[in-house]
Amino acid sequence: MLRERRTVASHHAVAYAAPMSPSVLYELVLFSHSWLRWLILALTLFLIIRAVLVSGAGRPLSTSDDRLFTALVGMVDLQMLLGLSLYFGLSPLVKAALSDFSSAMREPALRFVAVEHVVAMFLAVVILHVGRVRTRRADEAVRARHARRWLIGFAVFALAGIPWPFLPYGRPLLRLTFADLG
Ligand code: HEM
Repeated sequence: MLRERRTVASHHAVAYAAPMSPSVLYELVLFSHSWLRWLILALTLFLIIRAVLVSGAGRPLSTSDDRLFTALVGMVDLQMLLGLSLYFGLSPLVKAALSDFSSAMREPALRFVAVEHVVAMFLAVVILHVGRVRTRRADEAVRARHARRWLIGFAVFALAGIPWPFLPYGRPLLRLTFADLG
């Protein structure tokens, strides 16, 4: 009986602990990181346009603009978490770069993932957070102007940090498959 129970228990343990292969997890996270970029860029563009129109008309930001700004910060934080999990474990490129840092610095694709991308994106994340707080604390009359300025600052760094396909270390614009999710 005891033996039987143990067998059942270990059977379940195997079923529950069946590890997702690191490469599948890598593909999933990379896929999400790649697509979340578009949501972030679209929402940023929308909010910049709103802030420009509203501040031009001398009106304050609406409650829904305000909520969308908060949602943008949430999405960017999630993007940072996905990025950090790529950086500190999942990405074979980062692993290769960090295992021989000085040669990686001479290789554009490796230097990009190990240094340039994360530095640009950390700055973008900081600008967005500071901008959110400053915008919230600003008087209603100037709130839209603050939002406009900080959102444009965020967009500049985020756009500069993205591996656009025309760059030497370019990556796909749209990832349509999980390469090896089989
Ligand atoms: C501090 C935050 C971030 C970290 C630590 C980070 C980290 C990374 C890493 C390590 C890679 C390379 C993964 C690999 O190819 O193996 C990567 C790729 C990428 N990251 Fe980030 N990232 C961050 C923020 C962002 C943000 C804010 C965006 C865009 C809004 C972004 C867009 C991308 C894109 C488009 C790729 C290429 C994905 C692909 O090849 O399909 N990242 N990121």
